[in-house]
Amino acid sequence: MEDYKKAIKKLNKYNQEQIIPLLEKLTENEKQKILYQINNINFNKITNLYNELSKKQPISSEGIDEIVAYNKDKFKQEELNYYNSIGEKIIKNNEYALVTMSGGQGTRLGYDGPKGTFQIDIEPKSKFLFEILADNLKEINLKYNVVIPWYIMTSEENNNDIILFFEKHQYFNYPKEYIKFFKQDNLPLLTENGKLIIGSKKNIKEAANGNGGIFIAMYKNGIIKDMEKRKIKWIFIGSIDNILLKIADTILIGIAEDKKVKIATKSILKNSPEEKVGAICKKNGKIHVIEYSEMSDEMKNKRNIDGELTYGESHIMCNLFNIKALKMLSKKSLPYHIAHKKSDYLNNEGVLVKPETPNVYKFETFIFDAWSYFNEIVILRGKREEDFAPVKNRQGVDSPETAIKLYNDYYNKNN
Ligand code: UTP
Repeated sequence: MEDYKKAIKKLNKYNQEQIIPLLEKLTENEKQKILYQINNINFNKITNLYNELSKKQPISSEGIDEIVAYNKDKFKQEELNYYNSIGEKIIKNNEYALVTMSGGQGTRLGYDGPKGTFQIDIEPKSKFLFEILADNLKEINLKYNVVIPWYIMTSEENNNDIILFFEKHQYFNYPKEYIKFFKQDNLPLLTENGKLIIGSKKNIKEAANGNGGIFIAMYKNGIIKDMEKRKIKWIFIGSIDNILLKIADTILIGIAEDKKVKIATKSILKNSPEEKVGAICKKNGKIHVIEYSEMSDEMKNKRNIDGELTYGESHIMCNLFNIKALKMLSKKSLPYHIAHKKSDYLNNEGVLVKPETPNVYKFETFIFDAWSYFNEIVILRGKREEDFAPVKNRQGVDSPETAIKLYNDYYNKNN
């Protein structure tokens, strides 16, 4: 009863009384769950995020500058050997860990389940996306005689499914004590009028707070402490959906260590001015990723003296962080980006409505916005055919079909 009163008071205070009639229709069990949710939502935060929406300034390209990347192809062999040996030493000293971000919803793929549990028919055998990573890790472990700790970020929506999946597949024979799952935070979805909605599972609809939620999630779940205990120095944070992701690029690690930076990233060059990827640049002197949608045509087409796209260094979710950077970032806040999405909801009569057009705002932070806290970054340009085969869309570009082709071409060339 106390919880109920507290929740109603909160809903009234923040003008969210539209869900009260639906609360009355729930079973006792459902009611308990939703009351718990209401009492844990940070209403102040979502009200502020909603109020900020109308104040969003259009993005200007002023203060944007080109950034220079290292290019593996331009290194001499002795330079490659030098960086490689530094990188290898870090892995052999057990100072390296992998974090996989798999808290996303994977809406574009339209697959019913966490993306990592999606199976893809690659050479020499069909594998789940998580299995590809597990196999790559095992190969590296064998090469360097280590066991790399593997941290997997999940979200409220997919955490249980992911853990059950790993149990079902015996952790793909990866030592279980070296795998840790941790959940990122959620934020409620808001309608265009700033209202909460209830979904078919009879809860307030929420979504993961974006891949930038990783720093706080690592801190809150004791992951940073665990890494410190294991004396980890460099942490690679990658996405779940790039099946050519190189999770331990010793050149990248070696340059980052040698140049004494705290962050590094792998990029690839855009394949055309129109490719829809974020580009790494400098904005007012700070490292920044400019979204495709934020670039004018002039910026998209601008070329440098080498004839390459000036803003062509694409961010491919291939990020290396020093433990000191992660510690610092876990105490910082990142800006929120807003996505306009479609979301089912129960109307006042308890009937499920499936909108045809976007009806809710989703609030997300992005991992690369953390870079603005640093003055220096190492960017290493990789190659599309070696580093990037994303599984994003159900069909067409960046789909399982295109990813399989890229993966198999790479596999057949290297085996
Ligand atoms: P995307 O931004 O491509 O999102 O994620 P997504 O959820 O996979 O797919 P869509 O946009 O709904 O179709 C890039 C990486 O960031 C992770 C994803 O799991 C993926 O590895 N991510 C994204 C999170 O871990 N948490 C989030 O809140 C969002």
